Amino acid sequence: MRWFGDVAGLGAWWREVRRDGATIALVPTMGYLHAGHGALMEEARRRADRVVVSIFVNPTQFGPSEDIDRYPRDLDRDRALCLARGVDAVFAPSVGEIYPSGFATTVEVAGLTSGLCGASRPGHFRGVTTVVARLFGIVRPDVAVFGEKDFQQLAVIRRMVRDLAIPLEVVGARTVREPDGLALSSRNVYLDADERARAPCIFRSLESADRAWRDGERDPARLVSLARETLESGAPVDVDYVEVVDAEDLTPLQAPALRPALLALAVRFGATRLIDNRVLGRP
Ligand code: PAJ
Repeated sequence: MRWFGDVAGLGAWWREVRRDGATIALVPTMGYLHAGHGALMEEARRRADRVVVSIFVNPTQFGPSEDIDRYPRDLDRDRALCLARGVDAVFAPSVGEIYPSGFATTVEVAGLTSGLCGASRPGHFRGVTTVVARLFGIVRPDVAVFGEKDFQQLAVIRRMVRDLAIPLEVVGARTVREPDGLALSSRNVYLDADERARAPCIFRSLESADRAWRDGERDPARLVSLARETLESGAPVDVDYVEVVDAEDLTPLQAPALRPALLALAVRFGATRLIDNRVLGRP
């Protein structure tokens, strides 16, 4: 497995790979890798001859109140996980390598970014699309794999790729969960024992709305209140949002929902913000 910290090194490797006529899949991450990232690597492996994982804690997607210095990091563990998953190359650049002095461009997708997480994290998606566009330019992959865990992020990146005619395929991968349903996340390490014990209420909440949908419930307001009730059935929960939106364009669904619907939510346990979602009624 090759390890690159700079754009030039990765570029030389890219030329070698292309000379061999091999295809490349990219899995962008912020490191502190877990089995959810691992599943993206496996999907990447199925889609291309070479797999590149990028590890970069991107400062421009963190808000002023979000502590980027607290974001968990462990490059030794990350390296071991990438090795175990048969990754061909890791790109782990410094901030200066991604944002060299004079960097002046931002990429922003309108509309899709205004609701859900975009509403509570202003500027977040601008940071994501800017860094992902740059990573696409550096790695020049044929395929890029993202998790449905961050459903809005996946939708925003799909739109960016379409709008800017970036020549690659975006692939979404299902969310990997703990046995009790909690979605794997690098941020789960922030949870104390009590918060961790309460966190599966998120999954139960998605399940209850999904069950209601399967039983024929199509009223977005009733689905939301059911999800909220289940979320708070144990103890009060600090809810950022619980919404039912169109699974394609993420706009609020009108009653009754006739199109594929997404239940998306964000909650806080102490200082830790967790998100999850479910495409209702999907097998
Ligand atoms: P990060 O949070 O490290 O996530 C990297 C990728 O892993 C994302 O596509 C995310 O959706 C996916 N992922 C996270 N948890 C998952 C789970 N439990 N199951 C399946 N996939 C999961 O998302 C980012 O980093 C950044 O915003 C990034 C795209 C790298 C841009 O900086």
